[in-house]
Amino acid sequence: MLRNLVLLVAAALAPRALAFQAPTAQPRTANCITCHGAQELQARVSVHTRANVDCITCHGGNPGEIDVARAHGAQMRSLKDPRQAVDTCGTCHSDVDRLRNFGLRTDQLSLYWTSQHGAQLALKNDANVATCVSCHGSHGVLAPSDPLSPVHPQKQVETCGRCHGDEKLMAQYGLPATQPEAYRGSVHGQALLDDAHPAAPSCTDCHGSHGALPPRVGEVEQVCGQCHSVVQDYYDRSPHAKATGATGSVQCTACHSNHGVQKPTIERFTGDAEGHCGACHTEPDDKALAVGRTLHDDVQKLVSTIHDAELAVDKAGERGLFLGIERGYLDDARGLLVRARTMTHTLDPAALDEVLNRGQGMVNKTLEDLATKNRIFRDRKIFTAIFFAVSLAFAIALAMHARELAGRRKRLGRTQ
Ligand code: HEC
Ligand code: HEC
Ligand code: HEC
Ligand code: HEC
Ligand code: HEC
Ligand code: HEC
Ligand code: HEC
Ligand code: HEC
Ligand code: HEC
Repeated sequence: MLRNLVLLVAAALAPRALAFQAPTAQPRTANCITCHGAQELQARVSVHTRANVDCITCHGGNPGEIDVARAHGAQMRSLKDPRQAVDTCGTCHSDVDRLRNFGLRTDQLSLYWTSQHGAQLALKNDANVATCVSCHGSHGVLAPSDPLSPVHPQKQVETCGRCHGDEKLMAQYGLPATQPEAYRGSVHGQALLDDAHPAAPSCTDCHGSHGALPPRVGEVEQVCGQCHSVVQDYYDRSPHAKATGATGSVQCTACHSNHGVQKPTIERFTGDAEGHCGACHTEPDDKALAVGRTLHDDVQKLVSTIHDAELAVDKAGERGLFLGIERGYLDDARGLLVRARTMTHTLDPAALDEVLNRGQGMVNKTLEDLATKNRIFRDRKIFTAIFFAVSLAFAIALAMHARELAGRRKRLGRTQ
């Protein structure tokens, strides 16, 4: 821009000098983009264009030629074959020397071959699976952190969903096509898509983007604890974590599901729908059902007493009492309740006792404080009433006395 301006000014001042300048060097893709304007337009925003990765780096071809056949040449790679595309992207992206200055990882290709996508491409040359290009695009490749990138966390439902929401395609592999829809309606999907919650998982937070974790499924179940580590610790102490029988351990997803995770409630301890205790523990005398009932009742008790105390505090607040300390106690009680609910994952009611008792203690303290403040408030009201009555009586007495004095003075005046 500035250079052009300087040149323009220079041209205006000395047109003759400019006429002798050599023409500016053309980019080597000038001929390609004469015919391929659409790709050139897409490539303008790409990270590759900035890094001088151009048409010819990826496709080959002869820059000096304007005739189609000669411009393409015999060696031109169309990259429409998925295998060829993966090789082209992957060879460069696994080249440590080449990418040293860009601070990028160079493990995408090796990881990709370990994924279900890569394995299927390597073994069966299956063109239906995801390649570098189906996830990242070809000409307008952006950094994953760019909100417009197809692999940006908020865009993944759409990108993965293009194939994984396609029932006909997935049926060929015996897979359900329900994940994108279920995920969209889950606490995780809503947190990420509606609230832009920075810690909520996208598809690849659970599955891995290039491989390692699933697409090689099996191990995905252990991924929940990466974010819910406190729950995981309590869960590890439960009989479910230790169960070895025919079913093996009862994992997070057995109760919460994987894609459609919903906000759980304590009704699960007493219910028999999917993921509720009664779904698996069907015998009426199963010890597990008694445990579930106790957990439900213990948690419910603190929920109710906190609720009642909140109402009492709000009511007192409406009368103008300042209740900062009491509200603080209730915050503590609510914090302890959250902890206790997390601790239910031990499936050991005794483990919750201490925390529930402390929560109840904070509620009791709130109510005692409130009673004291109410008493002081009432006493002050009585005192004010008495003070007012006495003052009124005194004022009346004073007025009567003044009238009497005035009357006396009048009578005195008349007699004089
Ligand atoms: C004179 C115009 C012209 C020039 C110059 C040109 N192309 Fe093409 N290119 C075409 C046309 C027309 C097609 C579609 C027909 C075909 O496949 O031959 C095409 C197709 C392609 C394809 C897709 C091939 C396929 O199998 O679908 C690629 C990739 C490509 N060109 C890359 C390039 C590159 C890289 C250059 C520069 C080195 C270039 N082209 C120069 C006209 C041109
Ligand atoms: C980073 C590598 C890369 C660069 C740089 C690149 N391409 Fe491509 N191009 C591809 C891949 C991969 C495909 C195959 C896309 C597919 O299968 O969907 C492709 C496909 C094409 C096609 C076929 C039609 C289409 O759009 O799918 C044309 C034409 C083409 N490229 C031209 C160009 C031109 C012209 C440039 C330079 C402006 C360019 N490419 C730069 C990787 C690249
Ligand atoms: C000739 C080497 C080369 C080829 C071929 C190549 N890339 Fe790149 N790619 C780079 C370089 C260099 C960068 C870094 C650009 C920058 O950061 O400015 C990059 C950046 C990227 C990024 C952004 C990384 C980030 O976090 O910023 C993605 C995604 C990417 N490439 C994917 C692809 C895909 C998909 C293909 C194949 C269609 C491909 N690359 C082909 C060299 C290449
Ligand atoms: C199933 C979709 C998918 C496929 C297939 C895929 N990627 Fe990625 N890629 C992603 C996602 C998602 C990210 C975001 C990084 C993250 O958070 O892990 C990413 C990130 C990247 C980055 C940025 C650096 C990094 O590792 O974070 C590069 C470079 C990249 N991919 C290149 C490739 C190449 C080369 C291939 C093919 C060998 C490929 N990708 C295949 C989804 C995919
Ligand atoms: C909270 C973690 C999590 C998120 C987010 C997640 N998945 Fe999954 N996914 C899993 C688990 C766990 C499994 C089951 C693994 C098993 O049964 O071995 C699974 C299984 C799958 C399967 C195998 C078929 C099936 O349904 O069992 C596919 C395909 C899949 N997920 C795709 C996706 C896609 C696409 C997204 C984003 C829309 C996504 N997943 C988001 C955890 C997750
Ligand atoms: C171009 C289509 C396509 C895209 C895009 C795609 N996949 Fe896939 N994916 C497939 C196909 C086809 C399979 C089945 C391969 C098989 O079972 O051999 C598969 C398999 C999987 C599996 C293994 C399922 C199982 O149990 O075998 C997981 C997990 C998965 N994909 C996750 C993802 C995620 C996450 C994304 C997005 C980041 C994604 N896929 C993007 C086509 C795609
Ligand atoms: C990448 C981090 C991450 C992973 C992995 C993850 N979660 Fe979450 N999860 C979150 C975040 C963040 C929230 C909170 C959303 C909110 O508060 O709106 C959440 C919320 C939840 C909730 C609702 C909590 C509540 O208070 O209502 C449940 C249940 C849950 N996750 C279970 C799971 C299960 C089961 C898995 C594994 C299949 C899992 N999560 C994997 C981050 C994660
Ligand atoms: C997905 C099925 C499933 C669900 C849902 C489930 N359990 Fe279990 N539970 C099991 C299995 C399997 C065992 C191990 C049985 C064995 O080892 O005999 C077990 C064992 C137990 C045990 C140990 C039993 C003993 O005799 O020592 C308790 C306690 C228990 N579960 C409580 C619960 C509670 C409470 C819930 C609801 C929050 C629940 N379970 C939900 C499958 C389930
Ligand atoms: C036996 C069934 C069961 C299993 C197994 C299970 N949960 Fe839960 N989970 C529940 C129930 C029931 C609740 C509701 C508790 C409440 O509301 O008081 C819950 C609540 C939650 C919550 C929200 C409340 C909180 O504590 O933050 C999260 C997050 C959660 N579970 C994650 C997990 C993770 C991660 C795992 C695996 C490590 C797991 N759960 C295993 C039944 C289970």
